[in-house]
Amino acid sequence: MRHVLVLNGPNLRRLGTREPDVYGVQTFADLEALCRETGRRLSLHVDVRQTDDEAELVKWVHEAADARIPVVLNPAAFTHYSYALRDALAQRTAPLVEVHISNPAAREEFRHTSVVAGVATGTIAGFGLDSYVLALHAIARLLREEGN
Ligand code: DQA
Repeated sequence: MRHVLVLNGPNLRRLGTREPDVYGVQTFADLEALCRETGRRLSLHVDVRQTDDEAELVKWVHEAADARIPVVLNPAAFTHYSYALRDALAQRTAPLVEVHISNPAAREEFRHTSVVAGVATGTIAGFGLDSYVLALHAIARLLREEGN
């Protein structure tokens, strides 16, 4: 079974209590369960991780590149300024889908820039936790097209 990493940046473990008007009331545990269940339906083994630490996130991106593992990534605030994360992602060897729960383009100006988007296969934003479901479907389709 193909593995997929679902990586989440800072503050996302606080889903459910964090600005529920923006990010909804579902928790990080709900997100993990949703991703695993979606993976099961798509015959993908999904490993969901979260960190507040840029160095740890970069390390996971290197791990994915070395093992040719596709990535669904919500870089959270790192989206907008982490060149270190972008440079790590540029080394990818498998599909990368950037996801956001909210629609950053419809929010504050500093959220309109993604330094990650240019090295991603594509971006899905604004559909709540369903952004992750859509991203996993996109990865499954890309893997099928590659014949994996
Ligand atoms: C986010 C949007 C970012 O601007 C923000 O910093 C986050 C979450 C989203 O999922 O909507 O932490 O990536």
